[in-house]
Amino acid sequence: MPLLFALSLSKNKITGTIPFTLCTLRYTEILDFSWNHLTGELPHCWSNDSQIHVLDFSNNNISGGIPNSVCSLDGLKSLHLSNNNLSGVFPTSLRNCKHLVILDLSHNNFHGSIPDWIGESLPNLEILKLKSNKFSSYLPPQLSTLTRVHILDLSHNNFFGSIPKNFGNFNAMKISKGERSSLFRELAFYVEYVLFVTKGNEQKFERILPLINFMDLSYNSLSGSIPEELTDLSGLQYLNLSGNHFTGEITSKIGRLHKLESLDLSRNSIAGAIPSSLDSLDYLGSLNLSYNNLSGKIPYEKHLATFNDPSIYIGNYNLCGPPLLVNCSKEKLEPTTPASDGQEKDVWLYLGIGSGFVTGLWSVFIIMLFKKRWRVAYFRNLDDIYDRIYVLVVVNFTRFKRKYQKQEN
Ligand SMILES: *[C@@H]1O[C@H](CO)[C@@H](O)[C@H](O)[C@H]1NC(C)=O
Ligand SMILES: *[C@@H]1O[C@H](CO)[C@@H](O)[C@H](O)[C@H]1NC(C)=O
Ligand SMILES: *[C@@H]1O[C@H](CO)[C@@H](O)[C@H](O)[C@H]1NC(C)=O
Ligand SMILES: *[C@@H]1O[C@H](CO)[C@@H](O)[C@H](O)[C@H]1NC(C)=O
Ligand SMILES: *[C@@H]1O[C@H](CO)[C@@H](O)[C@H](O)[C@H]1NC(C)=O
Repeated sequence: MPLLFALSLSKNKITGTIPFTLCTLRYTEILDFSWNHLTGELPHCWSNDSQIHVLDFSNNNISGGIPNSVCSLDGLKSLHLSNNNLSGVFPTSLRNCKHLVILDLSHNNFHGSIPDWIGESLPNLEILKLKSNKFSSYLPPQLSTLTRVHILDLSHNNFFGSIPKNFGNFNAMKISKGERSSLFRELAFYVEYVLFVTKGNEQKFERILPLINFMDLSYNSLSGSIPEELTDLSGLQYLNLSGNHFTGEITSKIGRLHKLESLDLSRNSIAGAIPSSLDSLDYLGSLNLSYNNLSGKIPYEKHLATFNDPSIYIGNYNLCGPPLLVNCSKEKLEPTTPASDGQEKDVWLYLGIGSGFVTGLWSVFIIMLFKKRWRVAYFRNLDDIYDRIYVLVVVNFTRFKRKYQKQEN
């Protein structure tokens, strides 16, 4: 069938290996064999005579690695290989896949590190899913040179070390409706999709994929404090850092992630108080801070008061106040973060009083400075009061003097 444009045999019970003859299809743009029982390896026969845009072999039982020839497919934009038995290190064969937009290698047996060349070699990548493999390395700072990536799922691996500061540079996650690949629009017989966990459930995202900004680093061995730079990703909607070894505090700059819909920091060792700036996250619909080392009073006000499920706060060191049943005793409200000594507190007290006084006084003066009518009225009133007091004093004093003189006489 040399003129075949798209071939989809998805969700059948096809067994056996993938035939080499697939490589001879000259006009085929879409090859979808997902959800079958294919075994063996991916064929090594791809060449630039093919027009393939989408290769979907997800949910089979394919083993081995990814053949080098796959990047000979000039037009390859979407490669779905999740849920197979692929292994080896991050495939160097992908090094020349310049046009790749979606790469899904989740649920396989890849190990090793994410190579430094990824940013340079895959400049058009928008969706990177490496979930549930055996990757074990530092997160390379070069990853953030993938400036178009807006869906990043590295969960359930063994990445360690801290999150590089320049993870705040994922430019595509800074905008809520960034420019995305035409891939999501142009395919006639295939709907692009990615599965990921949001708000606690795995969901399939299709047409709205281009609108999603998502980062999932959950269940790795990451440590250190969560870099403040992450709050530069102002278009981020889903952030999951649960199940790592993060320490430090939740930065009050978290309020800058004003598109955030879901935040999961559970099962880490994050300390300090819950910043009240969380309250400014108007879209936040899912929050989980359980099993950390947080302390102090829960800012249970305004928007945050809608999170009335106590389970999102359980397992913390010293949190108190509603929705927990623990009352905030005096010692619980005492600073658990760097304690200051008494003298320093006094200085702050006096500074507070001083600045309060100045502010109060000046707010009166400034109003009068700008409103002529009030100024006139104020001073007229003042004059009036002065006159009355003066008259009162003088009259009474003279009366008293006369009385006294009379008595003397
Ligand atoms: C996966 O592949 C390995 C060899 O790479 C093989 O030993 C193992 O049995 C395969 N697992 C399954 C479930 O097929
Ligand atoms: C965060 O990730 C963990 C593990 O992948 C998952 O169990 C949890 O439901 C996720 N949290 C949210 C809010 O999606
Ligand atoms: C919060 O996270 C904990 C631990 O990861 C989990 O057991 C719990 O179900 C989560 N709660 C909600 C409401 O998502
Ligand atoms: C929790 O925080 C307290 C101080 O706030 C500290 O003394 C303690 O070591 C921390 N525990 C863990 C497990 O990090
Ligand atoms: C918390 O405080 C309220 C009122 O101050 C009191 O009625 C309640 O018994 C206290 N609960 C606990 C667990 O101490």
